[in-house]
Amino acid sequence: MNTRELQDAIMELKKKNDVCILAHAYQSQDIWDVADYVGDSYGLSVQASKAPQQTIIMSGVRFMAESVKMLSPDKKVLLANPGASCPMAAQMDRDDILELRKQYPDAAIVAYINTTADLKRAVDYCVTSSSAVKILKQIPNKQIVFIPDCNLGSWCEEQLPDKEFILVNGGCPTHMRMIERDVKAIKEAHPNAEVLVHPEVLEEIRKYADYIGSTTGIMKRAQESDSKEFIIGTENSIVQHLQFMCPDKVFYPLSKETVCHNMALTTLMDIYRAVEGTGGEVMELDDQVRTEALRPIERMVEMGG
Ligand code: 13P
Ligand code: SF4
Repeated sequence: MNTRELQDAIMELKKKNDVCILAHAYQSQDIWDVADYVGDSYGLSVQASKAPQQTIIMSGVRFMAESVKMLSPDKKVLLANPGASCPMAAQMDRDDILELRKQYPDAAIVAYINTTADLKRAVDYCVTSSSAVKILKQIPNKQIVFIPDCNLGSWCEEQLPDKEFILVNGGCPTHMRMIERDVKAIKEAHPNAEVLVHPEVLEEIRKYADYIGSTTGIMKRAQESDSKEFIIGTENSIVQHLQFMCPDKVFYPLSKETVCHNMALTTLMDIYRAVEGTGGEVMELDDQVRTEALRPIERMVEMGG
């Protein structure tokens, strides 16, 4: 089968088997073409509870499929490729959070959504890159323990000077591969290009940015801007997607190294097998874990809307 035949087969099976495909923006173009919704982590969480279909397939990484299952417990939720996980989600566990709670009893504990369901049970709020500042502003506590991404945390801290942030030493290994030397070199080669970066980048990259935002935010900005050239400081699949979306503009990766091998793991064939019912992993969550972990996610959806 070639790509187009496989896509046609997926479209037919989706209808027949009442399946919705949610894809994170870092998925490949052939997967975007068969997805019902493509977006950032916040958008995916919102869509998870809205989808009318009985089966939801997540083309992304494990914590995203877990969040979908939490928000749609009665639906069958599949992670298209069971090997796709976010290394940042493994940087801290629930015991680390309980320890932080003891150390900072007056603080609100805020977790990036890139964490496990078990860890989310112990935190007060969840945020995504696109919803973080909006949600943090509404939290009554002055002290905020922000885990696990210290880069996203410090970007939020810059914008919320009235809050006192406690950051831990974690982050996205993909985005942290970009260093100052890369941004200097690419800016020198393309001095008229706008620099659009994700808040998971290091502070040394952030200071060169014309715009900082989630994957969806970056794509929106590139589409709306009058500039003709852009340097993209996020996972490099977005460079290719933007070329398709804006054929009259030119996009350069900030660094050739910005590839998330976990996001790249899922193939169109994985989607085909999951829609057909012969592949993917059915997400199962213990009822207590689900109920406790759902609280911070529901707060996020309520406060971020
Ligand atoms: P967003 O999709 O929320 O921008 O997050 C990026 C990311 O790294 C997801 O794993
Ligand atoms: Fe995790 Fe970073 Fe990959 Fe996103 S890009 S899944 S945060 S490692």
